[in-house]
Amino acid sequence: MDINTYSTWLEIDLNALKNNVAEVIKMTGRDVMAVIKANGYGHGMRPIAQACVAGGATWCGVARIEEALVLRRAGISNRILVLGFTPASKIPEAIENNITVAIFNAELAQTYLEYVRIHGGTLRAHVKVETGMGRLGMPVEVVAPFLRALKNSPIQIEGIFTHFARADEADSDSTPEQIRLFNSLLHDLDQQGLKPEIVHAANSAAILNFPASYYDLTRPGDLIMGMSPIEGKPLPAQFKPVLTWKARLISLRTFPAGQGISYGSKYVTSKEERIGVIPIGYGDGFRRVDGQQALVGGKRVNIVGRVCMDQCMLQLDDVPDAKIGDEVVLVGGQGSEFITIDEVAQRWGTINYEVVCGLAERLPRIYIE
Ligand SMILES: Cc1ncc(COP(=O)(O)O)c(C=O)c1O
Repeated sequence: MDINTYSTWLEIDLNALKNNVAEVIKMTGRDVMAVIKANGYGHGMRPIAQACVAGGATWCGVARIEEALVLRRAGISNRILVLGFTPASKIPEAIENNITVAIFNAELAQTYLEYVRIHGGTLRAHVKVETGMGRLGMPVEVVAPFLRALKNSPIQIEGIFTHFARADEADSDSTPEQIRLFNSLLHDLDQQGLKPEIVHAANSAAILNFPASYYDLTRPGDLIMGMSPIEGKPLPAQFKPVLTWKARLISLRTFPAGQGISYGSKYVTSKEERIGVIPIGYGDGFRRVDGQQALVGGKRVNIVGRVCMDQCMLQLDDVPDAKIGDEVVLVGGQGSEFITIDEVAQRWGTINYEVVCGLAERLPRIYIE
């Protein structure tokens, strides 16, 4: 990638992604539903889905039906579950495209039924159960009557799932308590001949911390993207980073002492200083936060002055050989240095999930295989 092609881009290592999916399968001994909502955690929906399938994922999980339709148009023929809300008017499209929806209350199912009856066919659905997340999900006590009422209806409940609130906390009682509640429900449903065929619960953190949550398939997102769902705890070595964010130095100047750098002149050169420019800013999803770093010539350098919409400036006194066109790394490795997504997230006061979900559409995504 030379400067005449791209000035900034994301490199996405699809082999690392495939490896991570395969490692989850190996670790859990279960099928994987690759959770690739929000543009595949910012990595790009279609190539990410294709690589997850190549890595062995049998299901894809998305948040919205529009995302599921993108996958179908991309030729993904795997089972797809919409984990979030599906508007009733989209039910015919769900049926036509063999997309499974989540149902988290009985009223929703009634509205869906009207659409299914008019349209014809069978709607596949998974019932979502509230066990402690406090978000979407049916209270456990109404699940059995709900399933009984839908028996022999054109809504086929083929799965049941729940979601954990605190699976990143290995020592908390919260996840074991959610598992206990879910198991007790599954036991009751089994006794009554109502238990759906496919049971799932584990997100990335639960995969790492709670083997009792594996059931029939797991639902990792962060982990397969090579990121740790547990703040402050790096992933086991078999999981590989997927994303690198690079740019080129597009300008390099030596300023005299006293030169204000960027809006507000919040940084002022204290002596003669070499200042480089990279074409990355908050318009790319790189936050306007002070005290950030990048890698140039295998060294850590400071980003100085305010981050603009499309540019930011680097203090390059420690890299005397730096020249226009040199590669700069915002996330990933260069020489023996490495900037993790977690390091960036920490500077931004957030989690790695938000860093990747915020990567702007305009950033070219280069897939490496
Ligand atoms: C219902 C559900 N399952 C699984 C996941 C995947 O979570 P993670 O990326 O932590 O593995 C998510 C993500 O937010 C989710 O909402």
